[in-house]
Amino acid sequence: MTAKKPAYERPSIQRHRAGAMNKMGAIPALRPQRDIDGVPVQELIDAYGSPLFVYSERTIVNKYRELRDAVKRHWPKVQMAWSYKTCYLDAICRIYHREGSWAEAVSEVEVHKAMRNGVPTNKIIFNGPHKSEEGLEEAIRGGMKINIDHFDEMALLEQIAERLGVVPEVGIRLNMAAGAIPRWDRFGFNLDSGQAWDAVRRMLGGGRLRLVGLHAHLGTFILDPEAYREGARKIATFANKLRAELGIRLDYIDLGGGFASKSRLKSQYLPGEQATPAPTQYAEAVTDGLSALEYRHDELPVLILETGRALIDEAGTLIASTIANKRLADGRRAVILDAGVNVLFTSFWYRHNIVPAQPVPGTPEPSVLFGPLCMNIDVVCDHILLPPLNVGDKVLIKPVGAYNVTQSMQFIHLRPAVALIGLDGQHAEIRRVETLDDLVIGESVPDWLK
Ligand SMILES: Cc1ncc(COP(=O)(O)O)c(C=O)c1O
Repeated sequence: MTAKKPAYERPSIQRHRAGAMNKMGAIPALRPQRDIDGVPVQELIDAYGSPLFVYSERTIVNKYRELRDAVKRHWPKVQMAWSYKTCYLDAICRIYHREGSWAEAVSEVEVHKAMRNGVPTNKIIFNGPHKSEEGLEEAIRGGMKINIDHFDEMALLEQIAERLGVVPEVGIRLNMAAGAIPRWDRFGFNLDSGQAWDAVRRMLGGGRLRLVGLHAHLGTFILDPEAYREGARKIATFANKLRAELGIRLDYIDLGGGFASKSRLKSQYLPGEQATPAPTQYAEAVTDGLSALEYRHDELPVLILETGRALIDEAGTLIASTIANKRLADGRRAVILDAGVNVLFTSFWYRHNIVPAQPVPGTPEPSVLFGPLCMNIDVVCDHILLPPLNVGDKVLIKPVGAYNVTQSMQFIHLRPAVALIGLDGQHAEIRRVETLDDLVIGESVPDWLK
């Protein structure tokens, strides 16, 4: 018997989707995001150019009220103070001030920005390790809330107070072990070692300053609310001792900022797998810790929060355009964007979400996104599965509302415009794109080089 010939089957070419599978199935469909708060991305780019930072007033307001209300449910007197360095564009600060926020400044520049924004000086909190003599005098005269950072600043304040013949009300900044990693112990007086107690004794001995507040900022992007419970409990215990032994009753306890935003830290910076806690979790931890305070209800100090990133990060998006596509030597696809680490400082430690602003057909493949700088470190995202982007395609990078605008650099390229989308979907430029004149404004050429 002769073997039967197999039936002829016409060959077909099947595309192999390598890299796109996982045990849950295919990678999630990449849905483009064509608008921000209902405003088409293309309309924003046509109006203000690319790259472009875009802030959403609606998100700012919603996040602010959510946190404030969460804390107010647990503590009778709550005061938010907008941390200027997180984003000190005037338009942004004014939204927070309109919502009732004070200003938290860490330099004279920030103090003056807050004053220009109409914040009364007695609603400006003056923090930071470097306050000049003129700055401190201005702060005393204006009744600002000055939180002292170190003994030299205390001595300087005492001299100014003596010269002016006044006894200013002040706070001191504390640092402590409370479980936040890394431990920030370079600012303020250490609570655990007894240094903070010495600072208060020294202040009382001088008789030139009156202690009315305690301040602490445990760190930033603290994913564990327990750190706040512990920190607040330690501060409350210290406050009890101040009252019992020195007769000092506090007007305010300022717990700084540090709540995490919904950004994702790169894994090497993460202490473990932890999701971003909700505002209520932080609020409960802080106020539970403070409940150790042995004050009558009507005497309780104002709880001040200087939350920055958790309020604004998600309100900010960076729109960038594709400049070019290329293949790297190892086979990876590389995309060059018109925005890099010059404007996106946080890409060094956060893994941002990157979403195309238009449908992108094609098979997703491992890609790396570079910025426009002629610098090897200019990497916006070192690994992402993306279909090939065409020149001119836009991507949205988010959340980027915290610290990127304030820390962006005039390096190789000038800084881009910033737009704000208002509560009713109207939009406006809140900072124009820079020009060469902005870059050279402070420069001069000496005679011998003219
Ligand atoms: C004193 C002080 N308050 C508030 C903040 C705001 O911190 P965050 O953005 O982490 O909430 C900072 C930031 O470093 C700070 O130094």
